Amino acid sequence: MSSSHAHSHGHKDAAHHGIPVITIDGPTASGKGTVAARVAQRLGFHYLDSGVLYRLVAMKLVQEGEDGANEDAAVRAAQTLEPEFLPDGRIMLSGEDVSAAIRADGIGLQASRLAVHPAVREALNVLQHRARKAPGLVADGRDMASVVFPQARLKIFLTAAAEVRACRRAKQLGLPCEGLEYQRIVADIQARDLADSRRTSAPLRQEPDAKLLDTSDLSIDETVKKVLDWYRES
Ligand code: CDP
Repeated sequence: MSSSHAHSHGHKDAAHHGIPVITIDGPTASGKGTVAARVAQRLGFHYLDSGVLYRLVAMKLVQEGEDGANEDAAVRAAQTLEPEFLPDGRIMLSGEDVSAAIRADGIGLQASRLAVHPAVREALNVLQHRARKAPGLVADGRDMASVVFPQARLKIFLTAAAEVRACRRAKQLGLPCEGLEYQRIVADIQARDLADSRRTSAPLRQEPDAKLLDTSDLSIDETVKKVLDWYRES
């Protein structure tokens, strides 16, 4: 067994040849994480939540008292990032359990700000390629199909109307899908969509060879089934 051996770096290496990858890209609150994790579970594949890495860089900057807008600090934080993923699902950073803290909206926003820097992305791409292990990988993010795993066996672009995504987020927070708070969530989602799709480095967009899956009128179970059906046909 040599899954993490020194000579097996880079996704095009022979060691990785033939290990199937399913990429699931899409905008914020599209349900990527839930769908990707369930597809991985059903197939017995590994799961990579690439957004967590961007969130961890943001968290590290916060721990160091640095500003997320500081490009040099963000690049350094990405290059020296050593998160620990415990078997029970907890995520540790510098000995601290940050599993809940990295999910805060403020950290997501910081993550999206520092994600514009190519050197940050390159450093995190190295970590992402290491997640490609037998028997297979389901990877979710913004640029899984376009940059990180261009040879993926199945590419999905998962989306839903901004109002639907805002309503899902509101429900998670115990809020109704109407009113001022809800309107603020819609505006936040639209702002992040714009930032993620307008940046020049690895922008969010549907690849020509990716299948579009709009979940506005689909349940999670229906969405997972669709992805599994496509995978079996692939
Ligand atoms: O959960 P949500 O979809 O809101 O965010 P996430 O997937 O955790 O990612 C947080 C931020 O990291 C995004 O807004 C992106 O700007 C950035 N990101 C990225 O640039 N590339 C990825 N592959 C994943 C996330």
